[in-house]
Amino acid sequence: MSYSSFLSSAAFFTILLLLHHGFYHVSDGAQHATYIVHMAQSQMPLGFDLHSLWYDSSLRSVSQSAQLLYTYANAIHGFSTRLTPEEADSLMTLPGVILVLPEHRYELHTTRTPLFLGLDVHNADLFPETGSSSDVVVGVLDTGVWPESKSFSDVGLGPVTSTWRGGCEAVTNFTASLCNRKLIGARFFARGYEATMGPVDESKESRSPRDDDGHGTHTSFDILAAIDKAVDDIVDVLSMSLGGGTSDYYRDSVAIGAFAAMERGILVSCSAGNSGPSSSTLSNVAPWITTVGVGTIDRDFPAVAVLGKGKNYSGISLFKGDALPDKTLPFVYAGNATNAANGNLLKAKIVMCDRRVNARVQKGEVELVADAHLLPATTVGEKAGDIIRHYVLTDPNPTASVLIRRTVVNVQPCPVVAAFSSRGPNSITPDIIKPDLIAPGVNILAGWTGSKGPTGLASDARRVEFNIISGTSMSCPHVSGLAALLNSVHPEWSPAAIRSALMTTAYKTYNDGKPILDVTTGKPSTPFEHGVGHVLPTTAINPGLIFDLTTVDYLGFLCALNYTPSQITSVSRRNYTCDPSKSYSVAHLNYPSFAVNVDGSSVFKYTRTVTSVGGAGSYSVKVILETTDVKISVEPAVLNFKEINEKKSHSVTFTVNSSKASRSNSFGSIEWSDGKHVVASPVAISWT
Ligand SMILES: *[C@@H]1O[C@H](CO)[C@@H](O)[C@H](O)[C@H]1NC(C)=O
Ligand SMILES: *[C@@H]1O[C@H](CO)[C@@H](O)[C@H](O)[C@H]1NC(C)=O
Ligand SMILES: *[C@@H]1O[C@H](CO)[C@@H](O)[C@H](O)[C@H]1NC(C)=O
Ligand SMILES: *[C@@H]1O[C@H](CO)[C@@H](O)[C@H](O)[C@H]1NC(C)=O
Ligand SMILES: *[C@@H]1O[C@H](CO)[C@@H](O)[C@H](O)[C@H]1NC(C)=O
Repeated sequence: MSYSSFLSSAAFFTILLLLHHGFYHVSDGAQHATYIVHMAQSQMPLGFDLHSLWYDSSLRSVSQSAQLLYTYANAIHGFSTRLTPEEADSLMTLPGVILVLPEHRYELHTTRTPLFLGLDVHNADLFPETGSSSDVVVGVLDTGVWPESKSFSDVGLGPVTSTWRGGCEAVTNFTASLCNRKLIGARFFARGYEATMGPVDESKESRSPRDDDGHGTHTSFDILAAIDKAVDDIVDVLSMSLGGGTSDYYRDSVAIGAFAAMERGILVSCSAGNSGPSSSTLSNVAPWITTVGVGTIDRDFPAVAVLGKGKNYSGISLFKGDALPDKTLPFVYAGNATNAANGNLLKAKIVMCDRRVNARVQKGEVELVADAHLLPATTVGEKAGDIIRHYVLTDPNPTASVLIRRTVVNVQPCPVVAAFSSRGPNSITPDIIKPDLIAPGVNILAGWTGSKGPTGLASDARRVEFNIISGTSMSCPHVSGLAALLNSVHPEWSPAAIRSALMTTAYKTYNDGKPILDVTTGKPSTPFEHGVGHVLPTTAINPGLIFDLTTVDYLGFLCALNYTPSQITSVSRRNYTCDPSKSYSVAHLNYPSFAVNVDGSSVFKYTRTVTSVGGAGSYSVKVILETTDVKISVEPAVLNFKEINEKKSHSVTFTVNSSKASRSNSFGSIEWSDGKHVVASPVAISWT
């Protein structure tokens, strides 16, 4: 796990991604496991000068040999260590110990095994150069960077912001001089990994923030340590393209670390995951996290498979050879792809390889993800594949050719929701719609590691500066970059205000007014796939109204979930008591979207408060619903603001037909407009 920080001026953003190499078997003799220990900072007994001495002494009383791996002071208070289950139980009984959590492994959210690093997009529409932007620090938690990449050129950037407290770790294969005014810091966290997996194999990857070959599995306390350090270094935006966070928030290091970051005014943007198109496959759904799904962009890399029979099937390819294979050749079936390209048998032939064993195809993915093939090749979808396979297996003399058409832009419709993008409903808190929004994440041009060829295969001797990659890992940093942009324009906005601006201004239709499609079904996508819609930064800068949230609101949310005092402490690192006279409800969390779960009642009342960041104005509400089984009334229906930052509350009452069949859903939208701004919130009603 590494954490790097980037200085953003205006339209800059960076993408990093990597994939874990699967889970490793852990064996270290005794039944030791790694635990994160949450401590009540205020209960440190007199006589200790330093928290670490107190932690060490507590640890000593249950184990003579255990070492402090990390101590935490920002994301949580406490430490991590290796213990037997018995030692962990004894530790739990000591004064000042709030929670002892076994470690959790996290996976990076990419659809590809190769790794890569930075991205610099200068797309005038998506990323306007705004002269007013100032320096914003973006922290990226991932497997590392290739600092020599052109993506990190600091030409044109001013001096590093004076608030920056971070550093550039000088370690193996990474000298401090590799950092500059853009890549302003880089740190490496492997104690957690090494405690569990043994030392990093330095013949394969450096013990440094350099991105070599994937640093294996990421352990929850390396992640927590990286968040802890990022909070301390004072980043403005934190981008995490990883997760596994599908458990309750008090057990989820990403959610816990993100809570601390949120409190310090840091927007945390996380990928929704690449587990679509099945429903309820989201991770990182805590309401203080901005959860990002994936849409396609309007660029394609088509390559047509022309069958001897005369039929053409369009596929996609990143092959860039000199000799384009337009010759018609004998066509053979190789079955599964393993070693299919070996041997003289296949010389001067076109070979069909099944990728059925690949998760991408297994998941029924129908949009095509471009691959950097070594041989002239094209990837077609499952339907075309079935027809082509039938042809090659049944025709007595099958022939084919592959026509590579290179890059094509303005592909329509665009965006569509990618099949691999994880989908709702939110299985942890169904009363909050996730993902929050979608951003570009399919076939993205990005900087590539210098230690691997573009296919990521050991046999691929090519070295490239850029490559094309897909995954929610790619979409999350887009949103982080846009959040950095908003942060620089509106430094006074909270993370929730920035997210609200990105959400309420997103679009959910194409230019012709037709709804954004889900590539899996070919039908309009819903808030469970796209949240509020696709991010549109040019309008997000001036959203009109925002739905703001503070730490106290999130604490009330935890009360609404009926968390125990110690669970609340685990998430929020404080001794917070829910007010027994208050009725807490997720319906009152000031979120810019509405999820209603119909459980027998027929009337559901939600409250919201909007802040006029656009100044004086009169906003009227409009309700858009696709069903007659729900009625929505908003009270009051007109909000008059006299000045900037004025707040106005309103209630939203859903009256539903409670006898509708369970498992049905209806969707809609609630939109406030003053004629200049449109502030849209998605609505999802689910009969449970
Ligand atoms: C580290 O740097 C040395 C010297 O440049 C190089 O030989 C070695 O392969 C590098 N190791 C890794 C893991 O990148
Ligand atoms: C398939 O593509 C080839 C090459 O562009 C073209 O000559 C042929 O007419 C196409 N066949 C069909 C059925 O579209
Ligand atoms: C391909 O792999 C599948 C699943 O592993 C197997 O059932 C099938 O027989 C294989 N086909 C060939 C042609 O090897
Ligand atoms: C936490 O709350 C309990 C119950 O109100 C109180 O007894 C205790 O002193 C508090 N602890 C801290 C550290 O504030
Ligand atoms: C409520 O839903 C049920 C089941 O779909 C339907 O039969 C009934 O007509 C609906 N009631 C109203 C008032 O629309």
